[in-house]
Amino acid sequence: MKALTYHGHRDVRVEDVPDPRLIDPQDIILRVTATAICGSDLHLYRGKVPGLKDGDILGHEFMGIVEEVGPAVTRLKRGDRVVVPFTISCGTCYFCERSLFAACEETNPNRGAIINKKTLRPGAGMFGYTHLYGGYAGGQAEYVRVPWANTGPLAVPEGLPDERVLFLSDILPTGYQAAVNAGIRPGSTVAIFGAGPVGCMAAACARLLGAERIFMIDHHPYRLNFARETYGVDPINFDEVDDPAEYIIDQTQFRGVDATIDAIGFEAKGSTVETVMTNLKLEGSSGAALRQAIAATRRGGTVSVPGVYAGFIHAFLFGDAFDKGLAFKMGQTHVQQYMPKLLTHILNGELHPEEIITHQMPLSEAARGYAMFDGKEDNCRKVVLTPGATMGTAAVPSAPYPISPD
Ligand SMILES: NC(=O)c1ccc[n+]([C@@H]2O[C@H](COP(=O)([O-])OP(=O)(O)OC[C@H]3O[C@@H](n4cnc5c(N)ncnc54)[C@H](O)[C@@H]3O)[C@@H](O)[C@H]2O)c1
Ligand SMILES: [Zn+2]
Ligand SMILES: [Zn+2]
Repeated sequence: MKALTYHGHRDVRVEDVPDPRLIDPQDIILRVTATAICGSDLHLYRGKVPGLKDGDILGHEFMGIVEEVGPAVTRLKRGDRVVVPFTISCGTCYFCERSLFAACEETNPNRGAIINKKTLRPGAGMFGYTHLYGGYAGGQAEYVRVPWANTGPLAVPEGLPDERVLFLSDILPTGYQAAVNAGIRPGSTVAIFGAGPVGCMAAACARLLGAERIFMIDHHPYRLNFARETYGVDPINFDEVDDPAEYIIDQTQFRGVDATIDAIGFEAKGSTVETVMTNLKLEGSSGAALRQAIAATRRGGTVSVPGVYAGFIHAFLFGDAFDKGLAFKMGQTHVQQYMPKLLTHILNGELHPEEIITHQMPLSEAARGYAMFDGKEDNCRKVVLTPGATMGTAAVPSAPYPISPD
C-alpha cells in the first residue's frame, strides 16, 4: 500500500510499504478514506521530537471503512464507517475507567516522554507519534491497523461527508477539552494564543459553551481574519501589538481574562533566545506563549494548555502564577471521552469543524501538503488527504471551501 513515511528533518515521502495485518484479537484493519495533517505532525516534520525511525508512517487524524476484524472485536463489523481517536486506549484500566483515556496504562509498551519518570507507567500509545508513544504506524496511509478497537473507533452515520466528522479524531475534542479545562461558561472572557486549527476549534467550543468575549493572538492575518469572521474573536496580531497580554489587560478593566488557552505549544515564536536554545536542544520548550498566557489571566483564573510541551522551559514565572492564584490544566486529549457528545453537536448543526479546511489533496501529494501547512503557504489552515484519490481529484466536489487547484 501507499503511506506517508518519515525520513528526517522536513523529509516525508509517500512510498510503498507492506500492508498492515491483524496482530492482536481486538485489532481491526481500516481502509482510510480521509486523513488530516495536524500541528502535532509539524513538530515531527521539523525534527523536534525524538523517537522516530526512518520509514515510520505518520498520521493520527483519520477515518475510514472497517476491512477486517479480529476475533475479539465485538463493537464493529466489516463495512462499518468509523472515525478513530488518536489516543489508543484499552477501555478497562484504572485511567480508562475514569475516562482519562490519554493516560491509559496498557497501550504504550515504551517509555513515554516524561523526563523525571522514576517508575511511573507511561500514558497511552498514539498513532504515528514516535516510538516514545508506542511506535504505532499512523493513518496517513491507505490502510492502518487499529488496536483496541472495542474502545477507540466511533461509528458515524452514513450520508455525512468525511470532512464533517474527521476532526472528531483529534482537534475538535482537543479544542473542546481546552475550553472545558479553561472553565468556560456563559459570560466568560478568554484569550486563545494561536489561531491554528486547535485555536480555531477552541474558539468554536468556547462559543458553544457561552464565552462572551474571545481574544485571539497570532501573527498570520489570514488566520486571524478567518477566526474573526467565523467565531467573532477580537484578533491581536503580535507583529503589530508588542505586548498582547498588556493589551488584553487594558481591555478588561485592568484585570485580565477569566481564562487563557495556549494553542501553540513548545515551538511558540517571540523570543529569539528561546528559539535558538530550543533549536540547539539546550531546552525543551519556548516559554514565550506561556508567559503571555500567565500575564493575561486574571487573578483566580485558569491557564489551559492543549499545545504540546516537552521537557524544560525557560523563564516560567511560577511566582507570578502563585501570586495570582492561577489554575493550570493541560495535556493530551482524552479523545474517546468527548467524541459521542461532539458528534451530537455536529449532527445538531452546532459545530461545523469542516469550515477550517483550506486544502484537500490526494495522499500521493502529502509531502506537498506538509510543506504548505508548515510554511503557511497559500493561506493554508488545514490539509485533508484522500487515499486512493488520483491527482487533481477532490473527494467532495460540493465542499463549501476552496479545493486546492492542483
Ligand atoms: N493536547 C492535545 O491532545 C493536542 C492535540 C492536537 C494538537 N495539539 C497541539 O496544539 C498545538 C497547535 O496545533 P495546530 O494544529 O493549531 O498548529 P499550527 O502550528 O497550525 O498553529 C499554531 C499557531 O500558533 C501561532 N503562534 C506561534 N507562536 C505564537 C505566539 N508566540 N503567539 C501567538 N501565536 C503564535 C502560529 O503562527 C500558528 O498559527 C500544537 O502544539 C499541537 O501539537 C495538542
Ligand atoms: Zn494531532
Ligand atoms: Zn486503559
